[in-house]
Amino acid sequence: MPKPKVFVTRRMAQIALDLISKNTEMTVWEDDQPPSYDILREEARKSEGLVTLLEDQINEDLFKDSPNLKVISQMAVGFDNIDIDNATKRGIPVGHTPNVLSKTVADCTFALLLAGARRIVEADRYVRKGEWKSWHPMAFLGKDVFEGTLGLIGLGGVGLEVAKRAKGFDMEVLYYDIYRREDQEKALGIIFNDIPTILKRSDFISLHTPLTPDTYHLISDKQLAMMKPDSILINTSRGSVIDQKALYKALKHKIIGVAALDVTDPEPINEDDPLLDLDNLIILPHIASASVATRTKMALMAAENLLAGLRGDIPPNCVNAKEL
Ligand code: GLV
Repeated sequence: MPKPKVFVTRRMAQIALDLISKNTEMTVWEDDQPPSYDILREEARKSEGLVTLLEDQINEDLFKDSPNLKVISQMAVGFDNIDIDNATKRGIPVGHTPNVLSKTVADCTFALLLAGARRIVEADRYVRKGEWKSWHPMAFLGKDVFEGTLGLIGLGGVGLEVAKRAKGFDMEVLYYDIYRREDQEKALGIIFNDIPTILKRSDFISLHTPLTPDTYHLISDKQLAMMKPDSILINTSRGSVIDQKALYKALKHKIIGVAALDVTDPEPINEDDPLLDLDNLIILPHIASASVATRTKMALMAAENLLAGLRGDIPPNCVNAKEL
């Protein structure tokens, strides 16, 4: 029997590619830049399975054109680039990679929080520019993290891990999630609150929601105006949870203190985006889950989801399992 054809949209951990290629006729997109939409669509048309990343647009037109598709396996926990309703309508399971990345993303979230509070990136630039001439009692004064108040918007896997780290810093942790977690309130001593109260009371605010129509621009002018003038906003979720134009104004006019972002809208951010001129912005190229161990686990999980879907099984980590 011929092996099923699959298209993998980027190179990933070899151990996962080996597992896929043993069981399929695999094509891997070797370029570091993603395939264009036209190439992706052309490859999808020939394939029974796709391994995708968050920049790959998997939409209705692509589904219409790909009658043989049996499974989409996304190597990410988020899946806002995929038209899930359409996949479900066609009986196509969509795999993703939850849980394995939560601790790694939480570590990076905390790195951003600490870097923002203690002006680490700004100070590094200052030394490299040759501006460090003496020790000064007033130089680079930042904000203490310990015993501060952290507001978490979203308490899924990553939010929960960030809360645990914050407890190690003796922080008060407020959270909002559409699902209240009384078990975690008891276990970790965290406090449920509405979003406006969290914005007003927190020294640090970290976003951990998926991107949905309800969370698009969840943080805009009105919400930024509620935050403390020296507050630090961290985003390792999805760029468009924040209205970036509003963020620019808030940072420029010191409505808030610092933003530390792993994600932007669009990605990559435009080189001439005015945000990049601000000293009170820290920005990373969407790397929060980028540890060797975690990216390997994510790739293996994506391979397993793919192979299960090709066999006609529901992938072990499937976004639309209940609806199929
Ligand atoms: C990364 O952003 C992911 O969704 O896994």
